[in-house]
Amino acid sequence: MYDAPDVGELVPPNRTLMGPGPSEVHPRVLRAMSTPLVGHLDPSFIDLMDETQDLLRYAFQTDNEWTIPVSGTGSASMEAAIGNLVEPGDTFLAPTNGYFGDRMAEMARRAGGDVVYVDAPWGEPLAPDAVAAAFDEHQPDVFGFVHAETSTGVRQPDVPELTRIAHEHDALAIVDCVTSLGGVELRVDDWDVDVAYSGPQKCLSCPPGASPLTLGDRAMEKVLDREEPSRSWYLDLSLLEGYWGEDRSYHHTAPITNVYALREALRLVAEEGLEARWDRHRRVAGGLKAGVEAMGMEMNAAEAFWLPSLNAVRVPGGVTDGDVIDYLLEEYDLEIAGGLGDLSGQILRIGCMGHGAREETVSYLLVALAGALESLGADVDPSGGVEAARHAF
Ligand SMILES: Cc1ncc(COP(=O)(O)O)c(C=O)c1O
Repeated sequence: MYDAPDVGELVPPNRTLMGPGPSEVHPRVLRAMSTPLVGHLDPSFIDLMDETQDLLRYAFQTDNEWTIPVSGTGSASMEAAIGNLVEPGDTFLAPTNGYFGDRMAEMARRAGGDVVYVDAPWGEPLAPDAVAAAFDEHQPDVFGFVHAETSTGVRQPDVPELTRIAHEHDALAIVDCVTSLGGVELRVDDWDVDVAYSGPQKCLSCPPGASPLTLGDRAMEKVLDREEPSRSWYLDLSLLEGYWGEDRSYHHTAPITNVYALREALRLVAEEGLEARWDRHRRVAGGLKAGVEAMGMEMNAAEAFWLPSLNAVRVPGGVTDGDVIDYLLEEYDLEIAGGLGDLSGQILRIGCMGHGAREETVSYLLVALAGALESLGADVDPSGGVEAARHAF
C-alpha cells in the first residue's frame, strides 16, 4: 500500500485576474456552477443545451444551426474547427503575426494540410493586399486568421474584406475569436465568417471548459463531405452532430457544470446587450490605456488596431516584465502577464475582459502598477494614472 498523501482543504488565493485570461468570473456564473448535476441526456439538460445554443448564436451574431460549446478549452474548439475543415492535401493559409496564428498553422499541419503563410510583423494586423497576394500565389483551400491576437494586443480590422477575398477564391475562412467574443465587435453573419471559435475564459468571464464554436452551411457541407474522417474522434463534428444536433444521442459525457457556467455567462451578455457590452469594454479599457500612457508607458499596438480586451503595454526602462508581474502578484494579488514569442520580455499584457472590464478593477490595477513601478525604480513617472483614467471613463 502507498501512504495516503496529506493534502489540505482547497484554499486558493483571492486574485484579481487581469492577465490574458482566465478573467474575473461573475458571481452568478460561480453560483450556477454549484447547482446540482443532472445527466447529460436528462430532459432538463436537453432544454438547457437548446438555450445555450441560442445564447451562443446571439453572442456570435449568427443564425448558424451549427453553433455549439465544444468540451475542452479554446484549443479544443480551435482544433475542432481546423481539424474538421482541413483535409489531408488541403492548402491552409496562416498568418505570421502572432502566437495563436502559429498554433493554427501547427494544427492545420497535423490535420494533413500544407501550410502557407501571409506575413505581417508581430504587433500588426494582416493587410488585405498581402492576403489577396497570398491567395493569388498559393490558392489555399482554407484561410485561418486571428480576430483578437492575445499575444500582441492587436485587433484585426477589415474582417469582411478578408473573408471576401477567401470566398472569391473559393476558400473557407476560419476566424479565431477567443479574445473578442462578448467583448469586441464581432458579427459572424454580416462579416461572412465561415467558422468562428472562441473560449469562455476571456470576455465571457467564465471558467475554461466549454468553448464556443459556430459553422456556417458551406463549412458544415465540407465537413460532412470529407473523404476520410477527421483525425480526432473526440472532436469529429460529424459525430458530435449526433449529440448537439436533433438526435441528442450519446457521444461523450458533456461537461455539465461548464455548460451551466457558459449558459449563465451568456445570459449576462444577453441581459447587458452586445453593443452595450462592446461599448463598456472600449470605455473601461480606454481608461486603462489613458492611465498607463499618463504614467509614461507606451501601448504596443497602434490606436487603429488597439484591442480593448487585451492591452499590450511596452515594458518601461529600468525594470523587467518578470519583476513587475511578480511584484503585482505578491503585493497586490493581481495577475497580469508578459509577452510571448517575438514579444517576450518586451510587453506587459493586461486584460480588460468581461466582468473584469469595470472601472473599479482598472483603478485598482493602475494603483497597483504605479506602486510596482515606483518601488522597482522604473524610468517613468507613475503618478497621475488613476486621474487620467477617471477622466477617460
Ligand atoms: C487567441 C487565442 N486563441 C486560442 C487560445 C487557446 O485557448 P486555450 O488556452 O483556452 O486552449 C487562446 C488562449 O489564450 C487565445 O488567446
